[in-house]
This record gives sequence, C-alpha cells and structure tokens, in this order.
Amino acid sequence: MAIAVITGANRGIGFEWVSQLLDNGWTVYAGYRKDLGKLEQVSSSNLFVHQLDVQSNQSVLDFCESIEGNVDLLVNNAGVGDGRWQKLVDIDDKWSLDVLDINAIGPVRMVKALYEKMSHETLTKVAMISSLMGSIDDCKSGRSYAYRASKSALNMFTMAMKNEAIENNISFIILHPGWVKTDMGGSMAPVSLFESVNGMINVLETQTLENSGRFIQFDGELLPW
Ligand SMILES: NC(=O)c1ccc[n+]([C@@H]2O[C@H](COP(=O)([O-])OP(=O)(O)OC[C@H]3O[C@@H](n4cnc5c(N)ncnc54)[C@H](OP(=O)(O)O)[C@@H]3O)[C@@H](O)[C@H]2O)c1
Repeated sequence: MAIAVITGANRGIGFEWVSQLLDNGWTVYAGYRKDLGKLEQVSSSNLFVHQLDVQSNQSVLDFCESIEGNVDLLVNNAGVGDGRWQKLVDIDDKWSLDVLDINAIGPVRMVKALYEKMSHETLTKVAMISSLMGSIDDCKSGRSYAYRASKSALNMFTMAMKNEAIENNISFIILHPGWVKTDMGGSMAPVSLFESVNGMINVLETQTLENSGRFIQFDGELLPW
C-alpha cells in the first residue's frame, strides 16, 4: 500500500488530505504539532499519528524515524500566517523570521529527513502547499509581507531541490490550494475543503518526473511566478 506523509494534519487543509487519502486507500503518516485535533476522531489501521513540529530538527527526525517503509507522497502542508500587519512599519522582524522558518525551511527539513525513504525505484511525489501570495508577478498590494516572502522562498527552495532530486526519482509540485474556508482562510473563503483537496489530488495524478516544478492551483491552472 502506498505511503503518504502529511504535515500540519490535525485541522484545516492538512486534515482534509488525511481524510481523502485514507478514503483512497493510502497508508497515512500524519503529523500534529500540539493537539491531535480532528485526528482523534479517526479510527483507521492505515493511519499513524505522531507529534511533529516542522520548526524543530529533532521533532522532524523523530517523526521520520517512526515511518516504516518507503514514502510515495510527502505533502508539506503545515504553515502559519503573519499577523495581518496593515502597514510596512508594523512588520515584526522576529515573527517574520519564525514565519520564514516554518513555511519555507520546515518543508526543506522534511525533504532532507525523508530523502532516503523517498529515493526508490517508483516515483515519489513531493507536494509543497504554497500560495498564490508567494507569486511575485501577482503581488499587487502590500500586507502579508512575511507570509508572501515565505511562500516565494518555499517556491525557490523547491525549484532548486527538484533539479537535484530528479536523479532520485522524486518529482516536486508547488500547489496553491485556492482561498479555502479554514482557520487561516476565514469564513468568507469561496473554496470548500473538499473541493480544494479533491482538486489537488486530481492535479497530483498528472504529476510526472518530466513536469516536476509546476506552480499550479487546485483546479489545474498554472500560476505566474
Ligand atoms: N486557507 C487558505 O485559504 C490557504 C490559501 C493558500 C495557502 N494556504 C496554505 O495551506 C496550508 C494549510 O493552511 P490551512 O488553511 O489549513 O491553515 P490552518 O487551518 O491554520 O492550519 C495550519 C496547520 O499547520 C500547522 N502548523 C503550524 N505551524 C506548525 C509547525 N511549526 N509544525 C507543524 N505544524 C504546524 C497547524 O498546527 P497547530 O494546530 O498546532 O497550530 C495546523 O495543523 C498552509 O501552508 C497555508 O499557508 C492556505
């Protein structure tokens, strides 16, 4: 049975990935930072739950060591917003560094720690849950400064890593989930959790080694960098 790893899996988009992948017959290793949250309600022998703080190298290593077998899909979903500062003079430099650490370096920690488990004969897919807000071409306003920068940095880490990882049969995709109803997205968001994750799973099915490095949204539309 194919093995998937999901970070930030206790709520929001991460938990929806867990639900839909379990329904599709995957074995899922789900990471939660502090609380089990919705993972507590799932009873499945194909679900393995482990503490995971992507900001901590030790936590990442402990989580990855708990995985038995090769990883076929890594979904780097965990992420934080940046406090919705309204003006550039409000930017908090310390929190900005944390946002960059969690959103851009956290996924890199995961890739490094799982690299041996992902390098095998069949294709491994790595999905980076980025955002249209990481698009430099699309940046037409201020605000969300650190969040935008963290997702742009994630995109560039991904492009640089994918060039090297091709020889190990690993394909990267950079996904924008849409503006989704979650704690982060808020109640005004037009896209449901089901629609977003179902769409991303459909896009993932078209992922190959040859098209590694696409920046694409949940409905299959390619995005500007
Ligand atoms: N919702 C949207 O409209 C939208 C749009 C574009 C992109 N995204 C991206 O989609 C992803 C998921 O967003 P969401 O809307 O589901 O957000 P959410 O509801 O706020 O959930 C965020 C998840 O990330 C986890 N997390 C935060 N920091 C972590 C850390 N250091 N280590 C491990 N887990 C951590 C949270 O765990 P705790 O429960 O412990 O806090 C939670 O499980 C994020 O990367 C976000 O940037 C969302």
